[in-house]
Amino acid sequence: MTQPVALITGAARRIGATIARQLWQQGYRIIVHCHHSLDAANQLALELNELKPDSVRVLQADLNNSVEVSTLADQALCCWGQIDLLINNASSFYPTPLEQSTEQQWDDLVNSNLKAAYFLSAKLAASLRQQQGSIINLIDIHAQRAMPGYPIYSIAKAGLQMMTISLAKELAPEVRVNGVAPGPILWPEQDAAISPEEQRAIVDKTLLKRAGTPEDIAQAVVFLASQTFITGQIIAVDGGKSLYSH
Ligand SMILES: NC(=O)c1ccc[n+]([C@@H]2O[C@H](COP(=O)([O-])OP(=O)(O)OC[C@H]3O[C@@H](n4cnc5c(N)ncnc54)[C@H](OP(=O)(O)O)[C@@H]3O)[C@@H](O)[C@H]2O)c1
Repeated sequence: MTQPVALITGAARRIGATIARQLWQQGYRIIVHCHHSLDAANQLALELNELKPDSVRVLQADLNNSVEVSTLADQALCCWGQIDLLINNASSFYPTPLEQSTEQQWDDLVNSNLKAAYFLSAKLAASLRQQQGSIINLIDIHAQRAMPGYPIYSIAKAGLQMMTISLAKELAPEVRVNGVAPGPILWPEQDAAISPEEQRAIVDKTLLKRAGTPEDIAQAVVFLASQTFITGQIIAVDGGKSLYSH
């Protein structure tokens, strides 16, 4: 049997890169999509290709640009002629207080978290069907309970949650579509960074009293990818944060 092929968006760094590594360890050929982090993506590919030649390719695209999204899908199909697994992981994330929010922020957050995931799924649907493949969307527990101060992000992730359920129906019976909803895993960087006090307050609201790791998320992704009878489901990997009530 040929090795399956996974396209992971936003996979140069952080959670996406850990998902890429774990799927690669499971025997997948990996397409690492990136936007700004081309050096990190190339470094990851170099490292893994040294261990297993031509097991990783890198594709660059701005998911804010619908032409580039379409080209990304075409180029991904050209890599090895098939896609078995699509991981919609890429995401932009920053606060958008309602009365200061802009259309540009709306487009950026909705495009990267939702619209690109939808059109990549649509463009890759034929190959995914042929391969009896699957889609896994990286959602957020805040798709269900809006994150105060982040309305556009919360709306985009809620859309991605519904997309998971909707495409599970649209693509059945050949393709399974599932989601992973992380809680606190890696703190946001740069403009979206939060203070140590805010970090502690978030961790205090988990039942397990700690942040998770990218490996926790990647293990859930590997589990869903390897299953054969789960579709339309979203697993919260959040240390119990979504159950916290006081
Ligand atoms: N980190 C957490 O604790 C946490 C919590 C809840 C949910 N999640 C979800 O889990 C997933 C991974 O989280 P993360 O924190 O590792 O993500 P991240 O670092 O915030 O973003 C992942 C990648 O998305 C890419 N991206 C953003 N906008 C893009 C655009 N317009 N075009 C192309 N790529 C774009 C970036 O690629 P480049 O660097 O190449 O530009 C970035 O490296 C995300 O979907 C996130 O919403 C994470």
